[in-house]
Amino acid sequence: MHSKTIYLNGQRVAEDAARISIFDRGFQFGDSVYEVIRCYNGVPFLLDEHLSRLERSLRELSIDLPQPMSEIRDLCVKAAREQGRSPSVLYIQITRGVADRSYSPPSGLVPTFVLYCEDKPVTAERVYAEGISVAVLEDIRWLRCDIKSTSLVASVFQKMSAAAKGADDVLLERAGVGVVESGSGNLFVVKDGCITTAPEGNLILSGTSRALVLQLARGLSIPIKLAVPQTAEIYSADEVFITSTTAEVLPVCRVDSVRIADGTPGPISRRLLRAYRAEVTRETNYHYEE
Ligand code: PDD
Repeated sequence: MHSKTIYLNGQRVAEDAARISIFDRGFQFGDSVYEVIRCYNGVPFLLDEHLSRLERSLRELSIDLPQPMSEIRDLCVKAAREQGRSPSVLYIQITRGVADRSYSPPSGLVPTFVLYCEDKPVTAERVYAEGISVAVLEDIRWLRCDIKSTSLVASVFQKMSAAAKGADDVLLERAGVGVVESGSGNLFVVKDGCITTAPEGNLILSGTSRALVLQLARGLSIPIKLAVPQTAEIYSADEVFITSTTAEVLPVCRVDSVRIADGTPGPISRRLLRAYRAEVTRETNYHYEE
């Protein structure tokens, strides 16, 4: 594996020099936000969409921008290019900064800004061909899932619980609402040619891949319904898939002990994955090995 390209507070540093204070509020409280951006061919994909979400997350939590957005954008482009042409991911984390421990933050803190790029192969073709299994678990996260915060212990716990049940991932069921999203991606359910996904709001993260998939579906004249799917609808769906930066369009073929349709990825997921990848190739000139 190639080494990582790391910038700490805007300066390029070696991995063993990339250190932050134990008094950083990101470390002590999870008081920070992040983004994960896919890079293909050394080019960050959907960069502006990720950066506007980053700016929104910061604004919602009243965390200052460490640098003007244009400089952050330039650094993303530079780090991805420096990392090289193999598929990689850019990780950005901005914390509120360093202070004596107290829940209420003092004013005037200087945010800590971590940005790194590391090689990460695209998900294996076998996974797209076979689909994944998921377990439906109660969503125990907070009520501001629209903010991409690093306070992720509920998600870690839920992923561990799903793994203990032998599932590859988790679908999160919010009491009285329905199955809002997956542990780290947005959920889509297909029935009679129509795709359903949860509307934007405080119970889901508004995914950059979700927005692209909705745009591609409109272009392909696939009907869309914005509603939160119920578990019973998922069990009886024709297709289920998850979208995320790292997984693109990932078919789900088993939910709890239920096989979805014939247990293989369906035609709409496959069409949308192809369309998604065509968009990646158009933007980054990356060609998938298929
Ligand atoms: N996860 N919902 C949740 C809870 C997520 O954590 C993510 C992304 C998404 C999809 O967002 P996008 O399409 O912009 O990647 C939805 C990233 C990949 C992560 O935490 O690693």
